[in-house]
Order: sequence, then structure tokens, then C-alpha cells
Amino acid sequence: MKTFATHMPRRRFLGLAGGAALALGALPLIARAAEATGGPGDARMRIGIIGSGHVGSAIGSAWARAGHEVMFSSRNLEHDEQLAIEVGRGARAGTPREAAAFGDVVLMAVPYRALPDLGKTLAEPLRGKVVIDACNPFPSRDGEIAEWAREQGAGLASAALLPGARIVRAFNAVSAARMGAAHREPGRFGMPIAGDDPDAIAVASQLVRDVGYEPVVIGGLAMGRHLVPGTALAGEHPPEEIRQIAAGL
Ligand SMILES: NC(=O)c1ccc[n+]([C@@H]2O[C@H](COP(=O)([O-])OP(=O)(O)OC[C@H]3O[C@@H](n4cnc5c(N)ncnc54)[C@H](OP(=O)(O)O)[C@@H]3O)[C@@H](O)[C@H]2O)c1
Repeated sequence: MKTFATHMPRRRFLGLAGGAALALGALPLIARAAEATGGPGDARMRIGIIGSGHVGSAIGSAWARAGHEVMFSSRNLEHDEQLAIEVGRGARAGTPREAAAFGDVVLMAVPYRALPDLGKTLAEPLRGKVVIDACNPFPSRDGEIAEWAREQGAGLASAALLPGARIVRAFNAVSAARMGAAHREPGRFGMPIAGDDPDAIAVASQLVRDVGYEPVVIGGLAMGRHLVPGTALAGEHPPEEIRQIAAGL
């Protein structure tokens, strides 16, 4: 399969941050979003959040604060309705299916063991969508599927479990509490991200920036194996440090 990473020499690719990725033909989708909502700098998106726990609620709240429209979902609609009330403007609640259909972009923030079923039940609404995959496989929590995903590498495994979705791995190895606070120091820390689809990378990069992190594209989905807790990239690092770590992987 031809991937974003294979379009260019690896060294050059590793030097790209999210902003530079826009120069690689990814501009149209962002431009369309901006066009639809009134111009550059006003690229409001509709985002479905699947999993409204620590990660989903922190990032969803940050996106609503940044002016996006979010729909929280889980298997507990009552919880999500309450969360949407607390978040206020820009937030609503629905079922996972409704959230997947609502979003131009979908954030997956569930325990990894939930992905096989969600990949089947949400296959149709997720087809062709940009899906930001924050999910981490932990064998102790998620069982066999997590062992398999660790062997495949988390990015490629998520792509296999969510066929048809345009996956970007992001928000994998920073604590949810920090994700909710990053907007206070915008750009101080980088967020390593990985994906194969340039348009999807551009959209995810903008959304990472809107939470307060500077996106740093470390490579294609195969590099997603490095975007899990416990790797050198885990935790918060300045963008340049992420580039240096990624260059050595
Ligand atoms: N916590 C962190 O700091 C952190 C940081 C980076 C990445 N992550 C990763 O992000 C993912 C979410 O972590 P979290 O800490 O937010 O977990 P969490 O607080 O336990 O939240 C998980 C959410 O997923 C929902 N959920 C579970 N199974 C579901 C299903 N089958 N369909 C729909 N919704 C379902 C849960 O609600 P119901 O059970 O009510 O459905 C809950 O809203 C995990 O894969 C984790 O490894 C976590």
C-alpha cells in the first residue's frame, strides 16, 4: 500500500510538522471547511466523540471551547447528556452511531477491547471519515486483542479494526488531565501524530493545535507503534525534541 510516509524520503518526512504538511496537497480539505464556515481561521468542524471518559471529555471540551461542534457518546447516554450540559455551547450528546454519523471527524477514545465491535457496528458511518485514534492496547486491561495490536503496531491494528476510516493516531501518551490544560500554553508542547492520509493528517493537525499542542507528524500509520505509553515519545516534550526523538526511531 502506498502511504504518506512512502511519498518522500524518510528524513525529509520526519522534518515535517503539521503546518508543513499543508504544503503537501492536504490544503483542500481544510480550505473547504474554512469556506463552509466563513473563511480561514474559522474552520469549525463537527466532531463525533466515541468514548466520553477521561480522554473523550477532556479533548471534546477543549474542541467545544475552541468553537467546534462536538457530540459526546458512550453506552451511557444519560452521562453524556449531563456532560454536554456541563460543557455548554457547542456540545451535545448521542449514541455512538449518532456521533459517528454526526462527525466530519471522529475521535475514538474507548478501551482498545471495544474497537473490534465498534469497527463492525459503526463501519458504515465511519467509512471515509477522519478518525483520530487515541486508544491504547493494554493486554492487562484489554486482553488478547491488545497483545495482537501490540504485535501489529497500534496504528496498523486500529486501521485493520476500523476498515474504511482514515486513521490518524494522536493523543496517545499524554495524560487526559494535561490534554485539558494544554490550551493555557499553546504550542509549548508538541503532539506526535502518525497517519497515511495527507488530508486526514491536515485535519487532525488543526484539531491537535486547537487543543493547545503543536502537531508533529512522525510518519505513516506504521509509526503508530511508537505512539503508546512507555515509549521515548510518551509524555510531553517540546516540538523540536519530538522531531529529534522521532528521527532516531
Ligand atoms: N486516561 C488517559 O490519560 C489516556 C491518555 C491517552 C490515551 N488513553 C487511551 O484512550 C482510551 C480512553 O481512555 P480513558 O482514560 O478516557 O478511558 P475511560 O475514562 O475509561 O473512558 C472510556 C470511555 O469509553 C466508553 N466506552 C467503553 N466501551 C464502549 C463501547 N463499547 N462503546 C462506546 N463507548 C464505550 C466508556 O463509557 P461506557 O463504559 O459507559 O460505555 C467511557 O466513556 C483508552 O484506550 C486509553 O488507553 C488514555
